[in-house]
Amino acid sequence: MEKKFRKIGVLTSGGDAPGMNAAIKAVTCAAIDKGVSVVGILGGYSGLINDKIRPLNKIDVADIASKGGTMLYSDRCDEFKYEAGMQKAIATCKKHNIDGIVAIGGDGTFRGATDLSIRGIPCIGVSGTIDNDITATDITVGYDTAMNTVLAIGDRLRDTSESHARCMVIEVMGRHAGYIAIETGLALNAIGVAINEIPFDKANLFKKMNEARANGQRSFIVVVAEGLGAEFSEGLVKEIEDNTGIEARFVRPAHIVRGGIPTLADRNFASKSGYKAVQLLLDGVSDVVICSRHDEIVPMEIKFALILDRMYKGKLKDGDLDKFTPEQIKEMEAICAERRKYFTDMYEVVNGVSC
Ligand code: F6P
Repeated sequence: MEKKFRKIGVLTSGGDAPGMNAAIKAVTCAAIDKGVSVVGILGGYSGLINDKIRPLNKIDVADIASKGGTMLYSDRCDEFKYEAGMQKAIATCKKHNIDGIVAIGGDGTFRGATDLSIRGIPCIGVSGTIDNDITATDITVGYDTAMNTVLAIGDRLRDTSESHARCMVIEVMGRHAGYIAIETGLALNAIGVAINEIPFDKANLFKKMNEARANGQRSFIVVVAEGLGAEFSEGLVKEIEDNTGIEARFVRPAHIVRGGIPTLADRNFASKSGYKAVQLLLDGVSDVVICSRHDEIVPMEIKFALILDRMYKGKLKDGDLDKFTPEQIKEMEAICAERRKYFTDMYEVVNGVSC
C-alpha cells in the first residue's frame, strides 16, 4: 500500500440504486481493515463542494447492506461540472485530508471521478444505477433489484388483467436504455416489448393480440421502456384499444422501482466492486471504474468507459478516438457489437415465446 493513503472518502451520486449501501459497507470495512480511515461524503458531489463530511466506522455500516437507497444520500450536481465547483471539492478534500475517493453511481458520477483524478485526487468508480446503461460493464449495482421489483409489480398486474380481460401497458424506467424493459418483458410473458434499441412493430403487436384473443386469451402485458417517451407509451393504450377492441390500462411504476431491499445479486456485486475499488485505490490505481465483464470483476479506465458509451450510443465527437490505440478501438467496437447482439437475441426470444 502506498503510504499516502491514510483516509479515503466514499460518495454516492446520481439516481440512487438498491445495493449502493452494500458498496458503501464494503468500501468502509475493506479500507478500515487496511488501516485506512473512511469518511462518508453526504449528498454526492454537492457534499464535497459544501463540506458535508462524516466519519464512517464499521459500526456505522454494519446493518446497511440489506437496505435500499443510500445512507450517504445522493443528488445530481450541476455545480461540480464547472471548474469553480471542482476547486471547492478539492479544497474540502484537502481540509479533511481525504487522499482518495470511491464514487458510486452512473456515467455522470464517473465523469466527476475522472475530473477529480486528473486534478490530483485519485478516484475509483463503482457502478450504481438501475438502468444498466454503462456499456463497459455487463451489470450495474441496482439493476437486478429493479428488474425483480418490476417483475413483482407485473405479476400483480397480470392477476387483475386476467380477472378483467384487459391489457396492461407498463412503462418502466431505464432512461434511454431498454435493459429493464426487455428482461422483465420476457419474464412477465409480455406480448410486446417496446425499447429504443430496436424498432417496434405495432401492427404485429395488434395482430398477435387479436389472434390470441380469438384463441380465448384474456390478459395481456406490454412493457415499454421510458426512453420512448410518455407520448409513445400512453398513446399505445388507446391504439391497442382501437386496433384490438381489448380494454387497456396504463401503469407507470416510476420511482417505486428505485427503492426496496436489494437482491442477493446486487448486494454481492456491490460488495465485490467496493472491495476491489479499495484494493486498487490503495495500490495506487485511479481513474478506473470497476466492471463486471463475463462474470469477472475488472477495472476499466474511465476515459475508455465514457468514450465506449458514446460509441455505443452513436454519439462520438470528432477527435474522441484520437487518444486510443487501434487495439483499444477494436475492443470498444467488439463490446458495442456484443451489446447490440444481446438486444437482437433477446428481442427474438421475447417475440418467439410471448403470448
Ligand atoms: O438513472 C436512474 C433513473 O431512475 C432513470 O431510470 C430515470 O430516467 C431517472 O433516473 C429519473 O431521474 P430522477 O430521479 O431525477 O427523476
